[in-house]
Order: sequence, then structure tokens, then C-alpha cells
Amino acid sequence: MTAVARTRAELAALRDQLVEARDGPPQQPPMVAVVMTMGALHAGHAELIRRARARASAVVVTEFLNPLQFAPGEDLDKYPRRFDADLALCRAEGVDLMFAPDPAQVYPTGEPVVRVSAGPVGDILEGRSRPGHFDGVLTVVAKLLHLTAPDLAFFGRKDAQQLWLIERMVRDLDFDVEVIGVPTVRDADGLALSSRNSYLSDDDRRTALVLSRALRRAQAVAETSGATPQLVLQAARAEVAREPAVLPDYLELVDPRDFEVVGPGHRGEALLLVAARVGSTRLIDNTVIHLSGLE
Ligand code: PAJ
Repeated sequence: MTAVARTRAELAALRDQLVEARDGPPQQPPMVAVVMTMGALHAGHAELIRRARARASAVVVTEFLNPLQFAPGEDLDKYPRRFDADLALCRAEGVDLMFAPDPAQVYPTGEPVVRVSAGPVGDILEGRSRPGHFDGVLTVVAKLLHLTAPDLAFFGRKDAQQLWLIERMVRDLDFDVEVIGVPTVRDADGLALSSRNSYLSDDDRRTALVLSRALRRAQAVAETSGATPQLVLQAARAEVAREPAVLPDYLELVDPRDFEVVGPGHRGEALLLVAARVGSTRLIDNTVIHLSGLE
């Protein structure tokens, strides 16, 4: 049974009940996991929920379309809203508690005057195209961590820069929670699942496949002898350029430790990140690249 909390008070009461109900032997305290979402749930969200269930005795899903992380002119107004289907998915996945507040619950004093600053990594890549976006994300994630008080929090690797920033916030600001990254769930044809995929026409969807194709092409090049960051990037950029209907925003190789663009001599792991517009829809994707540097 999935309980639904709409207010902070309901959330607090239902969370307490859950923890009491799951109270086992003292050496095994109940673990609460949170999966945060903006709704329009899909198999990517379901995978986060499954990973959470595997590790925790109680799973809380938050569904909140956070106005703070949308700039004026972005898709806040047209973002898909499907609460009933989302609740059905949560029930099917055995979620214990769904917290689905409205903005007045989350921001009772209106737009917060004090916010979390994402720092320099908040201003590059996604942050360059979406100024203020990551401050809005981190502010709501911080608030939802306080409100749900989880032991574990699961986030998707699909949003790699978001995950890096959340991990960094948790470390830098001493949140008492373990953050767990979950691999990207894709459709059979390779397209990374996203709530925004519902904006795509059939033609757009076929066109959008060039992004995951470019990532796979880059991985293949990275496995060849003498592969360098430049060769990997060239291969990915050439693949994207084959689809003139796709307008790339950025395509970069970064060091997963600090999100700095890698230099030409970089070896070992790197993250290849892409963002592009397909029609009026902005999509992102990424993959890990292993640069062995072997000749
Ligand atoms: P949303 O886009 O709804 O995503 C919720 C969570 O699901 C995020 O952790 C995201 O990385 C993960 N996710 C989305 N698509 C995925 C996929 N194909 N495979 C694996 N995980 C996937 O990201 C947000 O919401 C918001 O910014 C939020 C963190 C909730 C703050 O408002």
C-alpha cells in the first residue's frame, strides 16, 4: 500500500509510522530511502525505486514539479502531469509513501530568499544553458532531504552533472545521507528515458537516436589503440553532425572527479556529456568513456 502525503505534517506523521512499523532488532535500525522526482514517471524512475527497495526497509518517493529550477520560457507550464499513473507505478513498485506537495507546501514563504549555491560547476555545461537551474535543483533537494530525513537517496546517472552537484552538496554541507547513483535506463533502441521524451514526435524520436549513437561511437573509438580525448570527441561530434535536424548545445569530455574538461593527455575514466535540441525539445545524455592510452 502506498500512502500519499500532500502536506509537511502528513509527511512527518506517515514517515514516523513507517519507521515504527519497520522497527526491527536494535542492531538493524530501519533504513529509509528517498527517490526524488518531478513526476511523469517512467522505467528510469522505476529502476531508482527498485534499487531503493533493495537497500532500504521503507521507500519514499517525492513528486514535485519544482518551479525554482525552471527559467522563464522553459517548459514548466507544459511539463507532463500524470499523478494517477504515477501513483499506480509507485503502488506496483511497492513504494511505501509518496510525498506530492504543491509549491505552497514546499515554499510557504514564497520564493526562498536564501538558496543553495551550486558554485562554479553550476555555471558550466547544463548550467551555462540554464542559468540558475542548479541552484534551484540543490535548494529543493536540500529541502526535500530535510523533510523526508532519509538514510539513503537515489539519483540517476542520466543527470550526471546534477548527481555530481548533489554528492558535492551532501559532502560540503554535511548532510547525513548516503547518495547512490543509478545507471541510465534506455529504451531498446538506445534513447535514454526522460519525461521530456513525450514531447517528441515520431520523427523527432528517430532523429534523437543520434545522441546515444554518438555516445556508442565514441566508446568504440576509445577502445581503439592510441585513442585520445580529441579523437573520441571528433568521432562523437561527427556522428551528431550527420543529423542536421539536431542542434547540439554542448558535447564535452569531463573528468568525473571534478567535472573539468579533460586535457589532451587525459587517461582513465572520463564522462562524455551531450545536450542538444531536437525540434523544440532539449535532451541530454552521457556515458562513461575509458581511455586506456595504450598504443
Ligand atoms: P526527474 O527528471 O523527474 O528525475 C528524477 C530522478 O530520476 C533523477 O535522479 C534522474 O536522474 C532520474 N532519472 C531520470 N531519467 C532516468 C533514466 N533514464 N535512467 C535513470 N535515472 C533516471 O531530476 C529531477 O527530476 C529533478 O531535478 C529533481 C532531482 C527531482 C529535483 O527537482
